Amino acid sequence: MQAAARLDLIPLWFTPFFSTGGVSVPKRAAILRKLAPYRVRPDLPLVFQLIGHDARSLSATAAGFAEYGVQGINLNFACPSKTVTASGNGAYLLRSPETVFELTQAVVEAVPDGVSVSVKLRAGWDSPDHIREIVRAVCDAGADWIVFHYRTAKEMYSPVDASERVRRIACAVEAAGNVPVFGNGDITSCADAEALVRSTGCAGVAVGRGFLSDPWLVRRILSGDANPASEAEKSAFLRLLLAGTDSTKRGRNWFLECVKMTYGADSVEFREARECDWGALRARWAES
Ligand SMILES: Cc1cc2nc3c(=O)[nH]c(=O)nc-3n(C[C@H](O)[C@H](O)[C@H](O)COP(=O)(O)O)c2cc1C
Repeated sequence: MQAAARLDLIPLWFTPFFSTGGVSVPKRAAILRKLAPYRVRPDLPLVFQLIGHDARSLSATAAGFAEYGVQGINLNFACPSKTVTASGNGAYLLRSPETVFELTQAVVEAVPDGVSVSVKLRAGWDSPDHIREIVRAVCDAGADWIVFHYRTAKEMYSPVDASERVRRIACAVEAAGNVPVFGNGDITSCADAEALVRSTGCAGVAVGRGFLSDPWLVRRILSGDANPASEAEKSAFLRLLLAGTDSTKRGRNWFLECVKMTYGADSVEFREARECDWGALRARWAES
């Protein structure tokens, strides 16, 4: 993400979730440590995502991050992972729209004007039948915008019919009224993003895995330019990544993953990179 931010490939920085760990509130030093990686582009709006189920801890943590200059707080009511939901966090909370309302309202009241409070939702816990109630709960609590992943938590990442994706996102858009909804799930191209906005009326899209396999995706969607990244852009991206990668085995493997995602698993670049030792790999990309 750092490389993508430095190369202007994203319009804002949306962080991975930070767990408030039950009822605790992070100290000033912990907040500053968490914010440090984002200082490379202080001009990019920063939306910091929190996950938790305790109103006091979430609201105090949100206020702490707001004090140190984030532009937005996002509450994660969407993560379906067993470790997260087993402790009553993430998508588990979708079982109770009342709780979602209370947590969102507590955070809205805790942060100053000018800091947005948004939420990340899935379509429900084990059924998409309560989209309207869940969306109304966060809107009534004062959420400024919503990122809506169309699957339920129980569906995890399993395939859901394309027409059902449209139906669920359109339902969220309709329930949200004038609160913007960003459709999310399986968007991998400009054409798909445009079609989703057209068919559901959503205000825009959010991309996850599509961005990981194509870091230029967001920029292309925003500019409407469907052309793939140029060779010069790809080299610049990898050079920047390399500069921030350490020489450990983990660093090398991570960089190889980035070459794979930039050029594809079947590319000559990835095959060559896999065969290089770390020194040769560094020399190859530092010079490109
Ligand atoms: C490895 C991984 C990590 C993720 N971490 C987060 C996260 O921290 N916060 C969040 O809101 N969503 C997270 N997501 C979910 C994505 O934001 C997105 O909602 C989901 O993958 C569906 O969109 P996609 O099909 O564009 O990937 C993560 C997804 C993946 C695959």
